[in-house]
Amino acid sequence: MTKRCFKPYKIKVIEPIKILSRKDREERIRAAGYNVFNLQADDIYIDLLTDSGTSAMSQAQWSALMSGDESYAGSRSFAQFETAVRDIFGFNYILPTHQGRAAENILFSSLVKPGDIVPNNMHFDTTRANILANGGEPVDLVIDEAFDPYFDHPFKGMIDINKLTALIAEQGVSRIPLIMLTITNNSGGGQPVSLANIRAVSAVARQHKIPFFIDACRFAENILFIHEREAGYAEKKPIEIAREIFALADGVTMSAKKDGLANIGGFLAMNSKSLFERTREKLILIEGFPTYGGLAGRDLSVIAQGLYEVLDIHYLRDRVSQTRFLGERLKESGIPIMEPIGGHAVYIDAKAFLPNFPQSQFPALAITIELYKEGGIRAVEVGSVMFAHQDQSGKEIYPALELVRLAIPRRVYTEYHLEEVATAAKAIAARKGDITGYQIIAGEGPLRHFFARFAPCGSRRS
Ligand code: F0G
Repeated sequence: MTKRCFKPYKIKVIEPIKILSRKDREERIRAAGYNVFNLQADDIYIDLLTDSGTSAMSQAQWSALMSGDESYAGSRSFAQFETAVRDIFGFNYILPTHQGRAAENILFSSLVKPGDIVPNNMHFDTTRANILANGGEPVDLVIDEAFDPYFDHPFKGMIDINKLTALIAEQGVSRIPLIMLTITNNSGGGQPVSLANIRAVSAVARQHKIPFFIDACRFAENILFIHEREAGYAEKKPIEIAREIFALADGVTMSAKKDGLANIGGFLAMNSKSLFERTREKLILIEGFPTYGGLAGRDLSVIAQGLYEVLDIHYLRDRVSQTRFLGERLKESGIPIMEPIGGHAVYIDAKAFLPNFPQSQFPALAITIELYKEGGIRAVEVGSVMFAHQDQSGKEIYPALELVRLAIPRRVYTEYHLEEVATAAKAIAARKGDITGYQIIAGEGPLRHFFARFAPCGSRRS
């Protein structure tokens, strides 16, 4: 039984949702080419596609929105934003961006040259793509335990320090323009990184004079895990842990759509003046003047407020307990999930759920489709649709993990909604022998998961 915690808010504004009949859901998913990205949000009952930009704002954030200052330069909202980011993250130079990937684009296009290598525990898709776009090679150095979906480890998102030092020794410092660390590790199941590991990465980076940047999208969730699991941090406040973490780094890329509790926004922050001057030029070209950077002033005020709310210990306990709640309910219903349960999402292990299902017929996609048909629930496939590719001989290479991600928006759903998800999954498990496979009928390339269309195997191509 998941430990229940104090619920630190009540609901003042509601957004009506509806549930279509099963017949209508079947029709809608067929019309969407069996790709949940093609569904209309109005046709969804519980939307667990992502936790990004989907948070519910607080009354203080709505008030901040109303008092936003839309001046082009020197706005009051920017001052609030800059003060909050500097207070929590501590960096000297702060550039607002419209979301996380814009911060990545500006950072990597300023630092990464063709032939360079960028290590990380695990790169998120946009980080990887932005490094590749600049001719660099993204390298994942997470600990091996991260690849075993059932291995119990309190900090399964850690970078392997031996792999990091070996890479530096092999490739040489000149080919490594920066070291990244993603907290929590989204691509590896929302798993946290310990402060000891962050400290060790920082020491290696400083020893070799390589800039160390943190992808801080879910920094507050990572902090809760440090607070709960790492010796010496149970008495520390989340904001104190935040300051300790970021004092170890040279900069951050941040998506405020996650742990900024905002619907849009992000930032790039750093200590180096020369890097700041270079990135500021790019910001003006790509995003906007440095005191708004692609955002409305009101968005900056909302983020300034959100960054403090996300560090409230009661908020964080409630947040992570919701994810645990869903994970525990799924386990009780006999659904295999990645463990330990991470910060922002629960991942169903599709290979274990459907053991005899060929990967060429996309088992994680099949479960995702069933969740919509069964309960009007939108999850996302993180398996062969997203990652399978052909090698040089044209052979299809399938990923080791075949997952369905159920990402939980912040402060949006109640435990009742999450029970509904577990009930739908249980119903699917009871008839899993009937689940059909799928084939791609349109869409290719590394971004095919966003727009590909599918048909059930054996059905006529239409
Ligand atoms: N880094 C991580 C670890 C992320 O999870 C994301 C986004 C980004 C960077 C990019 O930020 O979306 O503001 O440009 N993750 C979302 C997700 C899209 O659904 O996991 P962004």
